[in-house]
Amino acid sequence: MRRLKSLFDNNRRWAEKIKQSHPEFFQELSKQQSPKYLWIGCSDSRVPANEIVGLLPGELFVHRNVANVVVHTDFNCLSVIEYAVDVLGVRDVIVCGHYGCGGVRAALANSQLGLIDNWLRHIRDIYKKHQAQLDAIKDDQMKLDRLCELNVIEQVNNVCNTTIVQKAWSRGQELSVHGWAYSIEDGLLKDLNVCITNADEALAIFEKRAE
Ligand code: CO
Repeated sequence: MRRLKSLFDNNRRWAEKIKQSHPEFFQELSKQQSPKYLWIGCSDSRVPANEIVGLLPGELFVHRNVANVVVHTDFNCLSVIEYAVDVLGVRDVIVCGHYGCGGVRAALANSQLGLIDNWLRHIRDIYKKHQAQLDAIKDDQMKLDRLCELNVIEQVNNVCNTTIVQKAWSRGQELSVHGWAYSIEDGLLKDLNVCITNADEALAIFEKRAE
């Protein structure tokens, strides 16, 4: 705490500012949370989930990892999705990648970094799947950005294929899964036009893309 005193100072100012405009804010929030959205994003410090979409504490349930990957055996991510969908009843799951993602760049470079290589292997698999499209892009930055987008779309597919989301849809729960990409250069979100609202739509869209 001695070293990080400035953060505690920031914290007190932040809490005070919120209390000035909304005196009951923290007391009300301490009783329950009812966020409408689940955000699955990258751990990158330049992509702060709540700030980007202008939401307050209590409004966004968040899971972040390197390169916003949804792996079917990752019980951390799956537990977050399960709690968000089954208990909190969120209506929208947003997978948000970002351009210039270091994780995606490392996967593209195929360099050996250590433990993370095993995690990034999932993105290398996506590269393999779309190699013809990606290799046709000569500009390195554009190739990286396209792989960032394809990664988001694949992760949307993975979210849709979880038992959690499939079960929610089969019991008639209203739930949409979205794919977005954030630009750290201008602070703006791009909708990647994947918005899946039911199991049939997921099958139709991802089978079509796989052709
Ligand atoms: Co990233």
